[in-house]
Amino acid sequence: ASHAMLASLALLLGLSLTLAAEPPTCAPLIPVTLNNDTISGILGQWVYIAGASKYVPHQAELKAVKHAVFSFSPGSHEDELNVTETMRINETCITKNTSNIHIFRHNSTLVHVDDQVSSTAQLIQSDKNLFILKHLNNNFPGLSLSARTPNVSKEHLEEFKAHLHCLGFGEEEIFYTSEKDACPLPGEKTGEGGAEQQLE
Ligand SMILES: *[C@@H]1O[C@H](CO)[C@@H](O)[C@H](O)[C@H]1NC(C)=O
Ligand SMILES: *[C@@H]1O[C@H](CO)[C@@H](O)[C@H](O)[C@H]1NC(C)=O
Ligand SMILES: *[C@@H]1O[C@H](CO)[C@@H](O)[C@H](O)[C@H]1NC(C)=O
Ligand SMILES: *[C@@H]1O[C@H](CO)[C@@H](O)[C@H](O)[C@H]1NC(C)=O
Ligand SMILES: *[C@@H]1O[C@H](CO)[C@@H](O)[C@H](O)[C@H]1NC(C)=O
Ligand SMILES: *[C@@H]1O[C@H](CO)[C@@H](O)[C@H](O)[C@H]1NC(C)=O
Repeated sequence: ASHAMLASLALLLGLSLTLAAEPPTCAPLIPVTLNNDTISGILGQWVYIAGASKYVPHQAELKAVKHAVFSFSPGSHEDELNVTETMRINETCITKNTSNIHIFRHNSTLVHVDDQVSSTAQLIQSDKNLFILKHLNNNFPGLSLSARTPNVSKEHLEEFKAHLHCLGFGEEEIFYTSEKDACPLPGEKTGEGGAEQQLE
């Protein structure tokens, strides 16, 4: 009897070992094909929700961004978008409208050009009300989540966090923004004189 028990125990253990060895089911990050339809689908306003990066300089930036709203509008030609951003960096609200997105349709890549600094990313297939970017800078993984509204559903947030966990990020490596740090948007009446700064 004890032999049979050991055998079944070994069987059970063996089974749980093979189960444990299975990699977690990670949904692949599939880039959105950039065409006229998908590009017009991202026009308009987005609220940045959360981000994570293994690239240390990028981590410092993510940490300093307390809130951000950005808006894409058609740029000077069909493969360029103009960007208006309003964000709180540490304590300070900043609005700028001088950066651009360059669109590379052949490899589904978006390049954000801000002064001389450019950063490369791919838009990841997801809900149409979400804007998930896979950042490709310096071969360090990074992901960011933005959405049409400041409140994303729990399911969408969990889906984003699952992608991050699959890329090897821990919870403590994810930086979130907070609606309480929102800045007045351009054209809105400002409620806190002196805190804003118009950068051109
Ligand atoms: C995409 O839009 C541009 C102008 O915005 C137009 O010239 C071009 O023909 C469109 N391409 C397709 C495939 O519809
Ligand atoms: C886009 O921005 C550029 C400057 O970066 C500006 O010259 C151009 O007029 C803008 N285009 C539109 C359609 O606002
Ligand atoms: C934001 O604050 C942190 C911590 O005080 C500081 O290290 C960082 O340089 C600041 N970033 C900016 C862009 O001001
Ligand atoms: C950026 O904002 C300034 C000041 O509001 C405005 O004069 C300028 O035309 C804007 N530029 C673009 C490219 O939208
Ligand atoms: C896509 O092509 C552009 C221009 O050729 C390049 O800058 C970018 O790095 C490429 N993206 C990827 C993911 O290789
Ligand atoms: C976010 O809030 C708006 C307005 O309160 C509501 O209509 C919407 O359903 C909410 N969305 C989610 C994903 O919770």
